[in-house]
Amino acid sequence: MRKIAFFSQKGGCGKTTTCVNIAAALASRGRRILILDLDSNACASRTFGALESLENSIAAALLGLRPLAEVVRPTEIDNIWLVPGATDLHSLDNVEGVLDPNRRDDLGRLSPVALQLELAQSDLARFDYLLLDCPGGHPFIEHLVLLACDEVIIPTGLSIYDLYAATPTMHLILMAREARGDDKPDFLGFLPNGAGRRGVSRRVQSTLDQYSLPCLPAVRHSDLIKTLAGMPTVPQRLMVLARPESAVTASFRQVAAMIDHDPEITGRSESEMVAAAGPSGATSVPADAQSSLPLDSEHLEVVPCAHLGI
Ligand SMILES: Nc1ncnc2c1ncn2[C@@H]1O[C@H](COP(=O)(O)OP(=O)(O)OP(=O)(O)O)[C@@H](O)[C@H]1O
Ligand SMILES: [Mg+2]
Repeated sequence: MRKIAFFSQKGGCGKTTTCVNIAAALASRGRRILILDLDSNACASRTFGALESLENSIAAALLGLRPLAEVVRPTEIDNIWLVPGATDLHSLDNVEGVLDPNRRDDLGRLSPVALQLELAQSDLARFDYLLLDCPGGHPFIEHLVLLACDEVIIPTGLSIYDLYAATPTMHLILMAREARGDDKPDFLGFLPNGAGRRGVSRRVQSTLDQYSLPCLPAVRHSDLIKTLAGMPTVPQRLMVLARPESAVTASFRQVAAMIDHDPEITGRSESEMVAAAGPSGATSVPADAQSSLPLDSEHLEVVPCAHLGI
């Protein structure tokens, strides 16, 4: 099972939107997906109609009160299961008196290794993917996630403000790798989110390219995404299911195929992939080339702060 976090220090860059729609695209490829909602806004949970109290949420598993398997629930969508979030997840770092000595720090508070431990002792073999939806800018939950996941996708909006977040986000990933000492998590790629018909602008793409790190094909912008999120039924809320023929859905499917190492996609040359993606296609790197990319401090010094004027 692959454990992939949709992660950025920045809020509002599309982590939840890309997570749930890529989940739907992977599910329609026959993959079995478990979504873990770690955000107290619980938007992923709400998408699946499953906002929960702390006792029935991921918090219960993190605190060792219930095994993770007990808070996993099916969703209305075939092949997608959910561990719900809860609106008070943001207070997890203040919980005191944690019983399990392995999951508490010297002051008895929840330790940031709690998720790593819980995943290690849970039998999740029936799932192909664990997708973690993270909050933006919550240090404790960021630590929980980065110590527990195997791969990270950084969704990024295409404005200069969004790009400012890339460097600090990469630094968090790097710090987690150093702390873990197991070369995890891998960096699966930036995921440009909100591209127009003509794709990602040269300026944004060249900024991302300066990292010399993988970049997944861009997700298209659509105002419908916002509208659909409030629809009455679950299938109506997911772009991939509600508008299967749209350009946005095609872009989600293409990203899912890349993540899933679809030989149809990963076997193609980069120019073929960009051509196949049409005008919305961003530069992309075949998935099997990605895991071998280096990610170390030296690498990060070339990040484009100068380019951004910071
Ligand atoms: N490709 C897109 N086209 C149009 N709107 C989008 C797109 N992706 C995301 N949005 C909209 O942008 C807003 C932020 O998206 P989303 O909630 O997925 O971001 P997030 O990173 O999960 O935010 P948070 O940090 O608060 O969890 C939402 O209103 C969503 O509908
Ligand atoms: Mg979110």
